[in-house]
Amino acid sequence: VSTLVGKTAIVTGASRGIGAAIVRRLSDDGCQVVLADIEMDATEETADSLSSPAVAVECDVASSASVNAMIEVARREFGTINFLVNNAAILRNNYLVNICDEEWERVLAVNLGGPFRCIRAVSPLMVEQRAGRIVTVASGSSAGMIGQAHYASSKAGVYGLTKTAALELARYSITVNAVSPGFVVTDMTQQLADRVRQDVGPYIEEAAAAIPLRRAGQPEDIAGAVRFLLGDDASFMTGQVLNVRGGPGPAAS
Ligand SMILES: NC(=O)c1ccc[n+]([C@@H]2O[C@H](COP(=O)([O-])OP(=O)(O)OC[C@H]3O[C@@H](n4cnc5c(N)ncnc54)[C@H](O)[C@@H]3O)[C@@H](O)[C@H]2O)c1
Repeated sequence: VSTLVGKTAIVTGASRGIGAAIVRRLSDDGCQVVLADIEMDATEETADSLSSPAVAVECDVASSASVNAMIEVARREFGTINFLVNNAAILRNNYLVNICDEEWERVLAVNLGGPFRCIRAVSPLMVEQRAGRIVTVASGSSAGMIGQAHYASSKAGVYGLTKTAALELARYSITVNAVSPGFVVTDMTQQLADRVRQDVGPYIEEAAAAIPLRRAGQPEDIAGAVRFLLGDDASFMTGQVLNVRGGPGPAAS
């Protein structure tokens, strides 16, 4: 019997890609899911395709008011929140010297501020419950990536946020971990291929050749790792960053 049956999970950035794979996996395992995203048409479509109760909620993780309202809707809908998965993020490609303040601030506000706001909003309830699981999606780019000073910095920040939240919440039996993907085929991949003016097919093949397991990651690979961290088998793990990259990856990341 799955340990997720009847539990409630919030997943941000759930409309497509890795977020959609995460909600599909959690839903298949019996979880009730709150899909929080800014693109409502796609999010509702994903919510409608799930096998267990699900609700799509419009939420911009860069706004505290929006995050707090989303948490309220989740509580009203399902009564409790057992899991928070911080997956929403945006990618911008630009050399550091060309990044304007606005672009820098938006990437940090969504990718690092988003997980911060969601953890802050959900933890009082988890503290009350003396139980909860939080997983944030990081990225191998935190080791350094040309054209991604803001993105890499935001994802490196997720490490500090995860470890600190883990320390502060451990006494309430709440675990806080991160999953750090390498190359995963999603809409973001198209953006990366466009940046180097390459067709997406050959771009994926080249990337796969550089991965020790010789294939690109799929959203389901990340969903499986998130599922593990939310399950009972991971109950003694907190403050960890699980690399899911088809290889060990650079030591510094
Ligand atoms: N695809 C990869 O190769 C890769 C590699 C490493 C890490 N990641 C990370 O995995 C996660 C998912 O990436 P993906 O490839 O599925 O991306 P994606 O662009 O396909 O999906 C991102 C989702 O987040 C939503 N979103 C964007 N801004 C938001 C906001 N302000 N508030 C709420 N939702 C918002 C989008 O609408 C979308 O549903 C991200 O955290 C990303 O950084 C991806």
